[in-house]
Amino acid sequence: MKGVKIFAPATVANLACGFDVIGLALDFPKDEIFLYKSNYPGIRIHRMDGSPLPNDPKKNVAFVALQFLLKKYQQEQRFDNEKKIGFEIELIKNIHPGSGIGSSAASAAGIVYGANKLLGNPFSTIQLIRFAMEGERVASGTAHADNVAPAIMGGVTLVRSYKPLDITKLNVPNELWISIIHPQIEVKTSDAREILKQKILMTDAIRQWGNIGALVAGLYQEDYGLISRSLEDVIVEPIRAVLIPAFYELKIRCKEIGALGGGISGSGPSVFMLSKGNHTAKKVTEIMNKVYSPLKVDYKTYTSPINRQGIRWAEIL
Ligand code: HSE
Repeated sequence: MKGVKIFAPATVANLACGFDVIGLALDFPKDEIFLYKSNYPGIRIHRMDGSPLPNDPKKNVAFVALQFLLKKYQQEQRFDNEKKIGFEIELIKNIHPGSGIGSSAASAAGIVYGANKLLGNPFSTIQLIRFAMEGERVASGTAHADNVAPAIMGGVTLVRSYKPLDITKLNVPNELWISIIHPQIEVKTSDAREILKQKILMTDAIRQWGNIGALVAGLYQEDYGLISRSLEDVIVEPIRAVLIPAFYELKIRCKEIGALGGGISGSGPSVFMLSKGNHTAKKVTEIMNKVYSPLKVDYKTYTSPINRQGIRWAEIL
């Protein structure tokens, strides 16, 4: 195999109560990545949409993730000369960088997934997640997995533990849909993590782990009422909400129209709302538009089913 075309989905991390542990994949938007094994050593990445890449490759999430994969590959294959493998990569970013819907995760996860295919699948899913997490470390300062895991595995994923890495895929109720609004302001993940408290109250912890357990139960029982009651974050959201214009108004208005609930997507600035069914999800997206149209902030909205498959690929001859 010489080349693959990869579709890497946008993702929503945290899913309200599950800070750093729960995430889900969207059907739309998704990045397109073309990967070719090359006779020339090294990794060459081009953005096909004209926007620039970081000048320093060490700051490029895709480059770093792929380098980790190649290093491991060379160790395991006992290669003498690590410069023997080359990759040409063309990225079409449909997921806006800095949007809070897993743009860096899509690049990192998509590239390691594609490289694994081209090398004959030497790595397991958990290894691919680990490589992609190294890309996340570059993007945000922390190697969190709640975007790269759902990007690679699809559906809703839960990180039970980071050390050792233990990730499981959860059930996705049939009629679960998502609405997203992306206010086009900059919120750096590293800054949004910096402002968080390092210690939390026991009463908040109890409420949060009750919500996480019930959210997982709600997903399995396809109990939309339980899902709705569990979409509450008493630890992170109260601190980060100030970063997002009209955040509480958005939440209230979306729930009034029928959304199950939602919160900040990852570290923001996007906000997500879950709904039962396409019809309600579209109404929720309309309300998001109504809340934001009087504000002096550019924004984009999306309505999507949950992506159950994760990254998809096709061979290029
Ligand atoms: N769990 C991470 C955070 C996701 O909220 O900081 C970042 O996209």
